[in-house]
This record gives sequence, structure tokens and C-alpha cells, in this order.
Amino acid sequence: MVVRAGREFLAIPGPTTMPDEVLRAMHRPALDIYSEEMVQLSDGLLRDLSRLFATKGKSYIYIANGHGAWEAVLSNVLSRGDKVLVLESGRFAVGWGNAAAAMGADVEVLKGDWRRAVRPAEVEARLRQDKDHKIKAILVAQIDTASGVCNDIEAIGTAIKSTGHPALFLVDTVASLGCMPFEMDAWGIDVAMSGSQKGLMTPPGLSFCAANDRAQEIHKKANLRTPYWDWTEREGTEHYRKYGGTAPIHLLFA
Ligand SMILES: Cc1ncc(COP(=O)(O)O)c(C=O)c1O
Repeated sequence: MVVRAGREFLAIPGPTTMPDEVLRAMHRPALDIYSEEMVQLSDGLLRDLSRLFATKGKSYIYIANGHGAWEAVLSNVLSRGDKVLVLESGRFAVGWGNAAAAMGADVEVLKGDWRRAVRPAEVEARLRQDKDHKIKAILVAQIDTASGVCNDIEAIGTAIKSTGHPALFLVDTVASLGCMPFEMDAWGIDVAMSGSQKGLMTPPGLSFCAANDRAQEIHKKANLRTPYWDWTEREGTEHYRKYGGTAPIHLLFA
């Protein structure tokens, strides 16, 4: 016989436990999505997200899981055939790279090991070989969940900077944002993405990305852009476009 007392805590490689305050925040009627209150809610959340990523750059909210935000980042800054360097340390950065390949990027995996973090010196050496700057973006996960590897994003950022290579530095923080330090601007990250269901302890279903000015410049010429993910589409004066359509009101309350 199994006896259970108290509430059940999720401890799985997936969504985390939601606090009662978060659950209660959703238990109310929907807002009018065309109201000033809705605009205030979005503005506040977008500001808070940029603060959480520690960037002066803009943040975006998607009705999607982490896989969606991967696609959001790639489609906004890449063009067909762009070379992308994936820093392997487990399943997730490689999964992000597979998405890039399926979308038409030319993906190279910098071989790593599931039992150790990415070595910044190896990233530096590979970039120094790329004299023609063919590599347009570098993908890495801060915590590569399936292997449990924690990458030193600051050190990788320093290694990239030391080469003077212009590739965009793109970081997956799905399993780390809100759990450990993350300093997007200070560490030289151009675009960061995350999800709602882990460190933020809110329901699965939202994902986020933040982009600095350099990424926004490259975005203007990126040809993998599609309407739902497109940052420019979300900048319009019409608030409705901030979510590419109807706002996910209750997930925002959470
Ligand atoms: C580091 C990392 N990246 C991406 C994902 C994919 O996120 P999702 O399952 O929300 O699509 C996960 C999921 O656990 C993850 O841990």
C-alpha cells in the first residue's frame, strides 16, 4: 500500500512544482485583451524578463515551449545556408542544432562529451581557424539538462571575444534561468532563450527570448524569418501583435 501525505512535488527532468501563489494567480476571470490593463501587464512582464536575462535588449514572449523559442531565435537571426557552430555537452544544444539544420542552416558540432562542460579554449581554437568568418552563430546550453552539464557561459563568451570573431553568441537557459547567475550583456551574449516551466515555476506553455542590438541589426537581413516568430511583427503599435495573436492571459497571470 502506498500512503501519501501532503502535496505532491514534481522532481522530474521536466516542469517543476508550481507554488500555490502561482496557481491562485490564474484563478480569476480573463482580462479584456484590448484594455489598458492588458497593455500594462505585457509591458511589466517584458521589462521584468529583460531584467531577469540581465540585458538592456528587448524581450519577447511566445506561446510555445522551449522547442518553439529555439525556432524563434534561429528564424530571427539566420539566413538559409548560414554556418552554425553547436557546442556539444549533452542532448539539448545538439537538439537546437538539429532544428537549425532542418531550417536550412549548415550545422557543425564542436565535439564535446556528455560528462564534462564545453572547453572555452576549444571554442577559441575553432573560431581562430575560421578566418573568413563563415560561422554566423554559436549555440550552447547553460545547463544541458539530459547530461546535467553546467557550462561556463561567461568563460565561453570571453573566449569568443578574445578572437574578435563576429559570430552571434546564442544561449539556451531553459533549465537555468532563475536558478543560477545569468548575465546576458556582461557575458557578451547576443540572444538568450528560456521557458516558463522550470526555474520560473510557472505552467509550461510560454517561452521567452531576449536580443541585443547586434542581433536586432542582423535580424533585419535574416531570411529565415516567419510571421509568428518575427521580432519586427511584434514591435507594431497594435498590442495584439505582441503575442502574434490572442494573448495567453492566464499563463501571463501565472
Ligand atoms: C536545456 C533545455 N533546452 C531545451 C529544452 C526543450 O524545452 P521544451 O521541452 O519546453 O520544448 C529543455 C527541456 O527540458 C531543456 O532542458
